[in-house]
Amino acid sequence: MVFNTKKIVTDQLDKTNVPEHVAIIMDGNGRWAKRRHLPRIAGHKKGMDTVKTITMAASEMGVKVLTLYAFSTENWKRPTDEVNYLMSLPTTFFSSFVPDLIKNNVSVKVIGYVDQLPAATQKAVNDAVEQTKDCTGMILNFALNYGSRAEITTAVKEIAQEAAEGTLDVNQINEQTIDQHLMTKFLGNLATPDVLIRSSGEERISNFLLWQIAYSELIFTDTYWPDFTAELFASLIIEYQGRHRRFGGLDPDKKE
Ligand code: FPP
Repeated sequence: MVFNTKKIVTDQLDKTNVPEHVAIIMDGNGRWAKRRHLPRIAGHKKGMDTVKTITMAASEMGVKVLTLYAFSTENWKRPTDEVNYLMSLPTTFFSSFVPDLIKNNVSVKVIGYVDQLPAATQKAVNDAVEQTKDCTGMILNFALNYGSRAEITTAVKEIAQEAAEGTLDVNQINEQTIDQHLMTKFLGNLATPDVLIRSSGEERISNFLLWQIAYSELIFTDTYWPDFTAELFASLIIEYQGRHRRFGGLDPDKKE
């Protein structure tokens, strides 16, 4: 695969300030297809190709974790044909892309209620996780059947259970306790995205990583996900690099 991020990267991207964790809400597949008088699934198919492009661009740039919102706990409300197609995408995607992922040292991980997915989808995802488990470069983290409120609810239940059993002292519950019960726990100190990008012009969070994005920079772009390119990705990362992150404090030069 050929990517054209090189020129933008050399000219403007600050290689010392690449976000470690980038999260993306990949929106606009349906509208992309509608605009072309195509069925919605054609947008998802093209969107899957975009996933490959942006995975490689992010890995090449030095991103450590790329979390992609591929299917939400609310997406089951869509027409059956569309849901079935979305459920078939991981099989198509991984059967053609795992060799490229391994070549680029990218490991696959997943957050979400995977055990509620169709058996074939679960197998495709679990096989990809297993096949790439020794890769030590970027983590390509798919949110599949993921919803942040459900995730937090599950965490609360687990914490309450531990308190009821006496293995956890209620007075000891702190933010780390919550972190430790979320699906992003395995990411350790990389669990919080530095930047959350949403394509397609919609400006909402849609139940994605609500706890984890507390201090993330938010970037919205009008481009539909199937039209998203490596160059656009690089330009949004450059936009991120222009932001001043203060985490509730002050800029260092304003501390007097
Ligand atoms: C939102 O667009 C997109 C989705 C619900 C699905 C996203 C899935 C992909 C991009 C492919 C994922 C690939 C793998 C490998 C799992 P929308 O359909 O809501 O668009 P609309 O708002 O224009 O209707």
